[in-house]
Amino acid sequence: MASISLKRITSTWIITVMVLFVIAILFGITMRFNQGKLIQISPTSFYSIMTVHGLTMIGIWSVAGLAAIHYLLSRYLSIPTSISVFAFIFTVLGVVMLWSSAFIGEFHAGWTFLYPLPFKVAWKSWATPLFLSGLAVLGVAWLVWSVGILYQILKKYTITQTLGWQHFSTNPSIETPPLILISTVSLIGIIVCLLSAVVLLVLFFAEYFSNGAYSNDPLLMKNITYFFGHTIANETLYLGLASLYELMPEISKKPKFKTTWYVALAWNCTLVFILTAFFHHLYMDFVQPLGFQMIGQLASYFASLPAAAVTAFSVAVLVYKNQIRWSLSNILFFLGVMGWIIGGIGALIDATISNNIILHNTLWVPAHFHTYNAMGNVLFSLAFFVWVANDFSDLPVDSGIPKFIISLLVLGGFGFVLMFYLGGAMSIPRRFALYPPEFNNLSWLATLGGWFAVVYLISILFIFFTILKKCLKVFSAS
Ligand code: HEM
Repeated sequence: MASISLKRITSTWIITVMVLFVIAILFGITMRFNQGKLIQISPTSFYSIMTVHGLTMIGIWSVAGLAAIHYLLSRYLSIPTSISVFAFIFTVLGVVMLWSSAFIGEFHAGWTFLYPLPFKVAWKSWATPLFLSGLAVLGVAWLVWSVGILYQILKKYTITQTLGWQHFSTNPSIETPPLILISTVSLIGIIVCLLSAVVLLVLFFAEYFSNGAYSNDPLLMKNITYFFGHTIANETLYLGLASLYELMPEISKKPKFKTTWYVALAWNCTLVFILTAFFHHLYMDFVQPLGFQMIGQLASYFASLPAAAVTAFSVAVLVYKNQIRWSLSNILFFLGVMGWIIGGIGALIDATISNNIILHNTLWVPAHFHTYNAMGNVLFSLAFFVWVANDFSDLPVDSGIPKFIISLLVLGGFGFVLMFYLGGAMSIPRRFALYPPEFNNLSWLATLGGWFAVVYLISILFIFFTILKKCLKVFSAS
């Protein structure tokens, strides 16, 4: 049962995430309209905006996932609210540092800040250390939060129980709720990748303070960067799935999802293989040992397919020929699974080496990750937000938001990503403030993508204002 302090901090996270989300979408629309030549911003502004947009989006949906599992896990264990408050304070500080480095200091090396870009100073010289320090602040805050939650899980369950290994034999002595299993798998991944971010930052600072006496190995730095970046983006999505497993059957008024041997197996595969799937970002680095490239392709399949298959199967069994309650949260969860699977297929197409030769660093890349984020993970978290906002105000699960908003969300969201896919299929490179001259006649794809994003934004604003009123209620409740 959630305490009032947990409700308040969860509500604070939701409001903060939604405000930052709306601003970050506006940044995204600005980029699309610039690529479509509808507006004109300087290349420096474009790349500062791109850096902040990417970091903010990855960051807010990570904390949204952590806030959601923190809240839901309180049904099974007691987790101190203070670690969430601590993480919140340091997250605000980290965001202010990062945004200042980009918007005042003009730092614009992209959210992946790939070595050695941060040292090729094309901005105020203080912006590089401020950016790296901002990342360190966020890393520490989220590490403390993730370790704190995992510690409480491990106080109640053994590590093998959290991973559901007893479900590999018949009649398991104890049942691991899927929320515990998926939260543990995701938290382990998040902790490992945040630790790798610490190593990365130490290497950056070592070079920064060495005055040229020491320089890093670019290939090693790229491996660590993508280990961190790819892993955190994916683990965040799994946190969203943890909420789905916990809430979707409950909202549907059906029996809870259970951990079976195949559910446990799928999530154990995800735990292991997601940590090596990042190698698919380095296919074009021909000095990378060939074995790693092969691991990259195989791990990309093994990390995603089993978890996607069991989730799609569980959701299909829940909804097929069953009179389930289609509340807004459930519709969002269901659509999120669609977005995750469509984006996942796009990702696997790109992670297959023979295709990557053509699609590498084209708009196919933002196409697939925007699909499983904007139309996948975001919807999982929104489903939680809608459910919890009603929980705060003791309202029925489907009160307040008309379902036509969903039509706008689907039209805007899928239309927006379709324009990226078409661009990628026609080989338009990603991360270009203006398309190269060869693609001048295709800039309309960007403009149209921007307008679809406006439609998506309208639906997000609608959902936000409806849950905002309910979220604010927890501050007046005694
Ligand atoms: C409708 C909402 C959104 C719009 C309009 C939008 C727009 C854009 C645009 C135009 C780019 C640059 C693409 C390029 O040319 O390479 C971009 C990059 C990116 N977006 Fe989005 N986006 C949206 C939602 C999201 C969401 C929900 C996430 C993640 C949860 C996200 C994460 C990113 C990341 C990580 C990058 C890469 C930044 C970089 O390369 O440094 N975006 N987005």
